Amino acid sequence: MSTQPIGIFDSGIGGTSVFKEIKALLPYEHTIYLADSSNAPYGNKTQQEIIDLSIKNTEELIARQCKLIVVACNTATTNAIKTLREVYDIQFIGIEPAIKPAALKTETKAIGILATKGTLSSELFHKTTDLYSNGITVIEQVGEGLVTLIEEGEIYSDAMRALLKKYLQPMIDADIDYLVLGCTHYPYLMPLLLELLPNHVKIIDSGEAVARQTKSILEQNHLLNTQTSHANNQFYTNGNIEILNNILEEKYIVQYLKF
Ligand code: DGL
Repeated sequence: MSTQPIGIFDSGIGGTSVFKEIKALLPYEHTIYLADSSNAPYGNKTQQEIIDLSIKNTEELIARQCKLIVVACNTATTNAIKTLREVYDIQFIGIEPAIKPAALKTETKAIGILATKGTLSSELFHKTTDLYSNGITVIEQVGEGLVTLIEEGEIYSDAMRALLKKYLQPMIDADIDYLVLGCTHYPYLMPLLLELLPNHVKIIDSGEAVARQTKSILEQNHLLNTQTSHANNQFYTNGNIEILNNILEEKYIVQYLKF
């Protein structure tokens, strides 16, 4: 069982930011990554649609003998992980916006959160925010259009720059000192975000925390792969192979799969 792969899925290519953190911490684990790009973005779908897509992706990973599944998508986690855990015996690790560390560390008492509509409107997100936002201002911003541009490989386009400028301005006006990235696609916007935000604003995402949690759950369940041979990392997309390849910096082989 321990030599079986870790399954990872996202609405598209964004979850590769989480995959990279997992690989940095667990280089010998075999992995299977599913990019459901033909259904991206998930962020504007109904909760039931997100649940149905998450079940479809989970079935695909279970059929490939995964030992644990990482839901590398904030939108799928906040809308569907509860159902996934009810339906399947396999362990799931999810990703949620890192509101807690930002809220605890802010000195200006104002933080920004950029995420999809699906994440920001979810019950899970509201619960976490209510728990930690006492006495601080939380500027929530839907990143409408950002995932679509990233999926099209348009990370450094004028359209992206214009959208980010528009979305960040109210946060800058509110004097935030932390920006929480609540979508696994957004770490790929880091160079632009650094350019557009004042220097003192710190940007945090949850990718590294998810990798640590994955390691800890594998250890607890005696599922850590103790072999130190070359890991097999498989990538499947039902969208554009080249765009996934580019984001992975062509270190891996990507295959097309209808799922
Ligand atoms: N990577 C997904 C997330 O973390 C993007 C959601 C979408 O497809 O809209 O939320």
